[in-house]
Amino acid sequence: MNVIEPLLEEHRVIKKTLAVFKTEIEVIKEQQRVDSILIDMSIDFIRTYTDLVHHGKEENILFRELGKKPLSAEHSKIMNELLAEHKYSRSIVSRWMDITKRYFAGEDTSQEIIGCLQELTIFYPRHIMKENKHFFGPVLEYFTQEEQNKMIQEFEGFDGKILHWKYRKVESVMKERLANIRTGISLR
Ligand SMILES: [Fe+2]
Ligand SMILES: [Fe+2]
Repeated sequence: MNVIEPLLEEHRVIKKTLAVFKTEIEVIKEQQRVDSILIDMSIDFIRTYTDLVHHGKEENILFRELGKKPLSAEHSKIMNELLAEHKYSRSIVSRWMDITKRYFAGEDTSQEIIGCLQELTIFYPRHIMKENKHFFGPVLEYFTQEEQNKMIQEFEGFDGKILHWKYRKVESVMKERLANIRTGISLR
């Protein structure tokens, strides 16, 4: 296996889920309301899977190792663009989280929520295409099979850490919500 295969598989998962975002946009428009479970799942997908798991492996493992190689000017330019694009995606998500919070506090921000979903469905296929077609294939040339195997192993450890981090938070989040219910703090 080469080191980009796991990342390509994640790209497929991201694209499939973004296709569901398109239906989510249609349903918000049809029903004139935002479903809290669907929107929370969508935000969690982009924050946890797309950003922490996927961008995390790209930035903290693949790009880190590429940084040790004598990259061509073209490859280092694309890598910087990809890093900037990851930042741009994070900026959409923080805006999206803020307007979602406001929506469930009673403000009608549904148009802005639709806007963020649309921005993501336009942004990711382009970003993924750039990585698939112009970056991942050529940069493989910088690595030996042994170096790739090491990174693949590191990928697995990375995923495991995120999974445990995510579910270790469940206890405190549940406790906090239960305490809020008991004290009558309004919850959606
Ligand atoms: Fe990326
Ligand atoms: Fe990617």
